[in-house]
Amino acid sequence: MALKEVLIDELRDMYSAENQLVKALPKLAKGAHDATLKKLFTDHLEETKGQVIRLRQVFENLGEKPTGQHCNGMEGVVEEGADALEKDEEGASFDSGLVGAALRTEHYEIAGYNACISMAKTLGLGNVVTLLTANLNEEVAAEKKITVTAKPILQQAAKEPEEEKKPKSGKEKYSAKKSKDDEKAAARNM
Ligand SMILES: [Fe+2]
Repeated sequence: MALKEVLIDELRDMYSAENQLVKALPKLAKGAHDATLKKLFTDHLEETKGQVIRLRQVFENLGEKPTGQHCNGMEGVVEEGADALEKDEEGASFDSGLVGAALRTEHYEIAGYNACISMAKTLGLGNVVTLLTANLNEEVAAEKKITVTAKPILQQAAKEPEEEKKPKSGKEKYSAKKSKDDEKAAARNM
């Protein structure tokens, strides 16, 4: 498999990832309590739609179709966001969970674009590098905006009283069991 094929695989992953976010971001925007955070998610949704279009241009440039691969990584990250939306927390504490999920999303995308850009540069694909860099710059800017917006939210959440422990849901119990399994599996290699 030559580098160009690896790049196309990576790009198809990114295309799937961005499409998954077009679906997930409205849920984060709807769930956010803080007006600035809400607006940030809404604005980033519009940016993300533009990123999907840019990725289509990348594929046009390469003479390839954009579909063909589902991004499992982003599915997992989106799932983390869905978990944050299900939390019983209120106000700033709830929003803090959304901030955590959103930052994971941005960093996942930043890593993906950096990898694709390095490959496209190696292959001398100037137009592809330009298009991907435009997407990367938006992700980096979004990450910064989230971090800045989060500051007062986290400060507020730090002041909120801790919730009383509630019995774990089925999903939480399953997650707790899996985390024990992770620890056990790692212990064999430590
Ligand atoms: Fe994106």
